[in-house]
This record gives sequence, structure tokens and C-alpha cells, in this order.
Amino acid sequence: MERTLIIVKPDAVQRGLIGEIVARFERRGLRIVGMKFMQIDRQLASRHYAEHEGKGFYESLLAYITSAPSVVMVLEAPNAIELARRTIGATKPIDSPPGSIRGDLGVEVGRNLVHGSDSAESAAREIDLFFAPEELVNWSRDVDRWVFE
Ligand SMILES: Nc1ncnc2c1ncn2[C@@H]1O[C@H](COP(=O)(O)OP(=O)(O)O)[C@@H](O)[C@H]1O
Ligand SMILES: [Mg+2]
Repeated sequence: MERTLIIVKPDAVQRGLIGEIVARFERRGLRIVGMKFMQIDRQLASRHYAEHEGKGFYESLLAYITSAPSVVMVLEAPNAIELARRTIGATKPIDSPPGSIRGDLGVEVGRNLVHGSDSAESAAREIDLFFAPEELVNWSRDVDRWVFE
């Protein structure tokens, strides 16, 4: 089992797409183990996006991610990180195939709707940043044996 951190970003929340985006992960079969609605502050945003500090888009990225509430989730499945990244699409919506979240719903890289961890190390770091251990629920679904082998 693997866990990944997903953020339904402020543009998606403002556009009324929380349900649409959560539903895509849910339908695919990833198991939700944590979820919260929050406005990310600058300090948390700068820790989350530390790898991008100094890049040209860094300040606009922080302004974007802190501009309105987000929904932050931890999802679980075998290969959850790669599954979620493929469901999300490429960083730029224009490079994202139809069928992916960014390919179906997005136009610009600075309004690309959703974040997903890009590696096991990032996932562990990001989950720890956004969730206390007691906020994550260890559970199994009745349908799990029809989704996971
Ligand atoms: N060239 C860019 N111009 C504006 N925003 C960008 C650019 N590149 C990345 N971003 C923003 O920064 C976020 C983090 O970048 P990155 O980690 O490379 O992409 P991803 O979210 O696909 O993992 C992107 O999702 C996007 O919101
Ligand atoms: Mg990234």
C-alpha cells in the first residue's frame, strides 16, 4: 500500500469542482484516508513548495495556492503516487491528455487545479506537513477486494 498527498487547489474550489475532482480519484479506486478543507497560509505553502524557491513562477505560485481555500487529501492504493499523477495529467494542461483532470478541466499551468506528490519521499514529507498522524484513518472498504487483488 502506498499513500499520496493530493491538493484540490483554490481555482478548483472557486470553480465548484471539488466534487468532480474527488469523484475521479474515488471512482478510480483510491481509498481516502484523510481529508480537510483549509486555506493554506504562506508559511505552509513555502514549505510545501520549497523545491521551487527561486524559480520565476515561485511568487505567483505562493499567491495562487494561498488565495482561497483548498481541499487537502491523503489517498491510498498500491502505486497510489503514480496512479494519482496519471489521473491528474501533466504539469501543463495543454500537455495533459483528455481524460485527465488537467486535460479535461484546465487551460493554464498557473491554474492547473490539483497537486499530487511526485515520489515516495515527497509524499511522506507532504503528508507529514499537512496532517497529524491522528487525522489519518486506517480503515478498509467492503469493496476493497474488488479493487485491490
Ligand atoms: N512555468 C510555470 N508557470 C507558472 N506556474 C508554474 C510553472 N511551472 C509550475 N507551475 C506551478 O507550480 C506547481 C508545481 O510545479 P511542479 O512541481 O513542477 O508541477 P506538478 O504540480 O505537476 O508536480 C504546478 O502545479 C503549477 O501550479
Ligand atoms: Mg510537483
